Amino acid sequence: METMWNFAGARALVAGAGGIGGAVARALAHAGADVIALDRDPVRLDELAGTATAGRVRGHTADLTSASACREAVAGAAELLGGRIEVFVHAVGMNDRHPVLETPDELWDKITAVNLGSAFWLGRAVGALMVPAGHGRIVYLSSVSGLLAHRDHAPYAATKGGVNQLMRVMAREWAPHGVTVNAVAPGYTETGLTRAYLARPGVRASMEALVPAGRLGTPEDLVGPTLFLASDASAFVTGQVLYADGGRTLV
Ligand SMILES: NC(=O)c1ccc[n+]([C@@H]2O[C@H](COP(=O)([O-])OP(=O)(O)OC[C@H]3O[C@@H](n4cnc5c(N)ncnc54)[C@H](O)[C@@H]3O)[C@@H](O)[C@H]2O)c1
Repeated sequence: METMWNFAGARALVAGAGGIGGAVARALAHAGADVIALDRDPVRLDELAGTATAGRVRGHTADLTSASACREAVAGAAELLGGRIEVFVHAVGMNDRHPVLETPDELWDKITAVNLGSAFWLGRAVGALMVPAGHGRIVYLSSVSGLLAHRDHAPYAATKGGVNQLMRVMAREWAPHGVTVNAVAPGYTETGLTRAYLARPGVRASMEALVPAGRLGTPEDLVGPTLFLASDASAFVTGQVLYADGGRTLV
């Protein structure tokens, strides 16, 4: 398999070894980066390490729902990477659909910790390494749900809108230090996050009907946009949300 990307010598941390994080980690490794992947699920990490046939991805198990766990995860990854992290991709996420009035307290706490808390805690710890080094690329996986008001998505949508604003403030603060911070916002993409919902009768067809491109996304659709924002080709791009959604946000 050929790659148009060159990440030779880059040290990369990818949080989230699921559908999208896994595809991005494999692509970074294939392009020459030394990659550490974080996930709470050791089986996913093993699968990822086993399927990264070109290059190497090393897994590190961590439940990223607290500041201390995120700090320790970044410190552990930095040690494995020789003290430097040049690329950080945040692809951790969860969702659980309920109307606002039926959303349990603990679900709000869990989704905000996983999607937004980890984005802040990991981004802050990575930024503390990138800012003094004078270089870095941070890419958050946001969502079209950060813009559109999908029913039954209150905590998820709130965290994705929050990620967009967190990303913009980091981008502004760290631009003078050569660190860019951007987001890729996927539309509906077939991964473990969406599989059960898509299997419900009629859901797949109704989702596809909302996308001008006429299909749902694949994890590979997110690789190019993410690697662009992780590369030096995007050195003057910061604080942006790049929608990779087949036109979903146009309608
Ligand atoms: N799939 C989609 O349709 C879609 C659309 C828009 C945005 N996104 C975003 O893309 C990102 C990646 O999602 P995906 O589709 O690859 O989902 P996925 O479920 O395949 O991967 C998410 C990963 O996060 C990990 N994770 C969850 N909670 C964790 C925790 N507490 N600590 C450590 N790891 C944890 C899971 O184990 C999983 O491997 C997420 O931020 C998601 O919100 C996905």
